[in-house]
Amino acid sequence: MVSLVGRKVSVKVPATSANLGPGFDTLGMALSFYDELEVEAVAGVGAFVEVHGEGEGEVPTDASNLVVQSIAYTFKKFGQELPGLRLTAHNIIPHGRGMGSSGAAVVSGIVAAKGLLEGIVEMTDKDLLDIATELEGHPDNVAPALFGGLTIAWEDESGPHHKKLFVHRGVSPLELVPNHKMSTALARSLQPESVPHNDAVFNVSRSALLIAALTQSPELMLAATEDRLHQDYRAAAMPETDSLVQLMREHGHAAVVSGAGPSVLVLASDPAERLEAAKLAAKHYPEWKALMLAVDFKGATVVLHQ
Ligand code: HSE
Repeated sequence: MVSLVGRKVSVKVPATSANLGPGFDTLGMALSFYDELEVEAVAGVGAFVEVHGEGEGEVPTDASNLVVQSIAYTFKKFGQELPGLRLTAHNIIPHGRGMGSSGAAVVSGIVAAKGLLEGIVEMTDKDLLDIATELEGHPDNVAPALFGGLTIAWEDESGPHHKKLFVHRGVSPLELVPNHKMSTALARSLQPESVPHNDAVFNVSRSALLIAALTQSPELMLAATEDRLHQDYRAAAMPETDSLVQLMREHGHAAVVSGAGPSVLVLASDPAERLEAAKLAAKHYPEWKALMLAVDFKGATVVLHQ
C-alpha cells in the first residue's frame, strides 16, 4: 500500500441554510461563510487536533472528533488504511445555530479524505453524498456544503441524490444569528407524525414556487417562503426566532428559520432590501449578529500539497 505520510490537504467548506421555509428536509443553500481545515498524514496512529475559533475548548481533540471520525469512516469505506493524522481547524461557523456546522465538519472530513487519497481512490459526487448522509443524517444540509448553490435533495432505494441549481443574482441572503443555541434533535422531536392534507398541498405549492423565486423571479420570495410543515411546530422552543421571522415578514422581507434554528435567514430580492431588513433587525434585536452573505457556488474544496 502507498504511504500517505507527508501528504497534506487544505479544505474549505461553506455554511449552509437548510429548509428555506417550505422545503423541509429537501432544500438547502450554501453561504459564503467558511470553516477551513488542514490535515496532514503523519507516521504512527491516532489523531492530534487543534481547533481555533468556534468549538475551541469544546469539541474533542482526539480520535472522537467528528472531522477525524468522518475521515476514518471514508478511509474504511474505500478499504484504505488510516495513517496518523494532524489536523488544524479554523472554524467560524457557529455551533448549534442552524448554519450547518455539523454538516460542515462531516463534509470537511470526507473531502479531506478524498484529497489525501487523490490518485489512489476515485470518489464520485454520489459517493461523497452517500457518505455524508450516512454520517450526518440530513442530505438537505450536506448537499449544499458539498456542491454549493441551491440544492434539492431527495432519497430513494439507491440512497440520497441531489440537483444543484444556480441562484438569481439579485437574491441577497442575510443571516441573523443569536447567541443562544438550538438542538436539532429537540426541534425534530416537536414535529408531528402526520400533517393535514391541506398543509401538505400548501407546502408543495410554496416549495415549487420557491425554486422559481430563487432562480428566476426573486419578487415572488415572500409568498414562496411560506411554510406549514415545521416552523410553527417548533416555534414554542424558539420564541425569539419566531417573533423575528414574523416581524421581518410583516415588513415584507422573506424570513425563514435557518435549518433547525435558532438563526433566521432573510432571502432579500436585492441588496437594497437586504440593507433595510438588516436595519430592522438591528433596531429590534440588537444582540443578534447580522451576516450579509453571498450564495456560495463552489461548495467544499480541497487542495493536496504533496
Ligand atoms: N432539515 C433539517 C431539520 C435540517 O430542519 O430538522 C437540520 O438538520
